[in-house]
Amino acid sequence: MLDIDAEKVHTPVLLSETLELLEPQRGGIFVDATLGLGGHSDTILAASSETRLIGIDQDATALKMAGERLATFGKRATLVHSNFSAIREVVDNKEVDGILADLGVSSLQLDSETRGFSFRFDAPLDMRMNPDSGDETAAELLKRLSQDEIANIIYQYGEERHSRRIARRIIERRDRGEPVETTFELADLVRRSVPHRPKDRINPATRTFQALRIAVNDELGIIAKFIDDSVNLLKTNGVLAIITFHSLEDRIVKQTFQRLSGKCSCPPRMPVCQCGAVKKVDILTKKPVIATETEQHENPRSRSAKLRACRKI
Ligand SMILES: C[S@@+](CC[C@H](N)C(=O)[O-])C[C@H]1O[C@@H](n2cnc3c(N)ncnc32)[C@H](O)[C@@H]1O
Ligand SMILES: [Zn+2]
Repeated sequence: MLDIDAEKVHTPVLLSETLELLEPQRGGIFVDATLGLGGHSDTILAASSETRLIGIDQDATALKMAGERLATFGKRATLVHSNFSAIREVVDNKEVDGILADLGVSSLQLDSETRGFSFRFDAPLDMRMNPDSGDETAAELLKRLSQDEIANIIYQYGEERHSRRIARRIIERRDRGEPVETTFELADLVRRSVPHRPKDRINPATRTFQALRIAVNDELGIIAKFIDDSVNLLKTNGVLAIITFHSLEDRIVKQTFQRLSGKCSCPPRMPVCQCGAVKKVDILTKKPVIATETEQHENPRSRSAKLRACRKI
C-alpha cells in the first residue's frame, strides 16, 4: 500500500462538465488516456454497472495509486502503463464509446519533492512523467541542446520574452563546466536573467519550467495524432473529451477538431479544396467549457482549464 490517499492528492477538474459530455451512464467501454489518480475514472465507473474502463498513464506511481482507488470496481477497470500516443495498441484497435484526456501534470507530480517538476523543492532537474522510460531528463536536455534550441523551447513552450538571455546564461554555466542540474540552480538562473517586475504575480521561473516540461515529455507533439487515433477508435456517436491547461495545447485541440469536423483550412484563394478536410465529427463545444467561479475558487488549478469535446458521426 502507498501511504498517500489518491482522492486527497489531486482534485479532478471540470468533473461534472466532462461527465455530461461523455455520458458514461449509457454503459460501454471508456478510455481514460490520462488516468492520473483516477478522479475522472472513479466517476465514470460509478455511473453505470455496464461501464468498463481502460485507464492509461505513463507514470507508474500514479497508476499504482489509481489501481488502489479503483479496486472496488474489480474487472471493470483495466489499467495500462503506457503513453497515450500508443492508444491504438493499448485498446487493441477495439471500438470504444468514449475517450477522455485530461492533459498535463497531476498534483502528485507537481508536489513531488524529488522529481524536479517544481522550483519549490530542490531536486535533480528530471521532469519526466515516465521516469522508467530511459528518455532524456531536463538536465540532460540542457546539456545536449544548442543555445538557440534552448532559447526556442523556452520562447515557444513557455512564451517567455527573455528566452534568449536565459539560454545564454545556461550555456555560460555549461561552458564553465557547471551545467544546470537542479531545480534551484535553474530557478536562480532565471531569476537573475529576467528583469524583476513587482506586479508579476507568478514566479519568473514558471514559464521556463513549463517549457522544459513540455519539451522533455513531448507534450505538444503527440496531441494531434492522439486525437486522430481516438476519433478512429470511437464508435458512431462516441465522444472524445479533452481538457487542456494552456493556450498552446488548446490551440492544437481546437484546430484538430475543426479539421475533423470538415472545416477546410486551404488558403482563401484556392479554387478547389486541397487540404483534404473530411467531416468525421460534430463539435459539441462551440466555445471551450471553463470552470465555474466556485470551482476556480476551490481549486486554483482549474483556472486555466479548457474542455472541448466532439462526437463521431
Ligand atoms: C492532469 S493528470 C490527470 C488527473 C486525472 N484526470 C484525475 O482526476 O485524477 C494527467 C496525468 O496524465 C499523465 N499523462 C500525461 N501525458 C501522458 C501521456 N502522453 N501518456 C500517458 N499518460 C500521460 C500524467 O502522468 C498524469 O498522471
Ligand atoms: Zn481545404
